[in-house]
Amino acid sequence: MDKEKIYQELIPQIKALINGESDFIANLGNIAASIHFAFNFHWTGFYLVKNNELVLGPFQGPMACTRIGLGKGVCGTAWKKKAPQLVNDVNQFEGHIACSPHSKSEIVIPLISEGEIWGVFDIDSSFYNNFDSTDLHYLTLICTLFKNT
Ligand code: SME
Repeated sequence: MDKEKIYQELIPQIKALINGESDFIANLGNIAASIHFAFNFHWTGFYLVKNNELVLGPFQGPMACTRIGLGKGVCGTAWKKKAPQLVNDVNQFEGHIACSPHSKSEIVIPLISEGEIWGVFDIDSSFYNNFDSTDLHYLTLICTLFKNT
């Protein structure tokens, strides 16, 4: 199945999941799980802004670093610039934070509600060049479906 089709099937599932539950941490956990296992990514999860740091939130995958500063790594860059980051080869990204040697490419989507950035959604792949404009499109869309309340 191509990735577009997988995303199109995921979106109603994620909507149904969110509609049935009001706790946003519970929802982030299930959103991470549904996307992670649909694509068999290496790591899929959330970092949440807390006291001017990104702190590890719900995720699927191996252990990850718990705190990321503004402008640090791919996640901190997405936070600072309030812009998605699509990295084809993490070794080429200056300052990339290597939580796992298996991570080869990465995409990070900022989470913004009412103009305020409250976290990032980070996905790592164990393959180079795994992410493209289709992932960017659908992941950005998915990130508009939920808020931090
Ligand atoms: N690689 C990220 C750190 C988080 S992990 O990938 C889970 C970064 O450079 O910000």
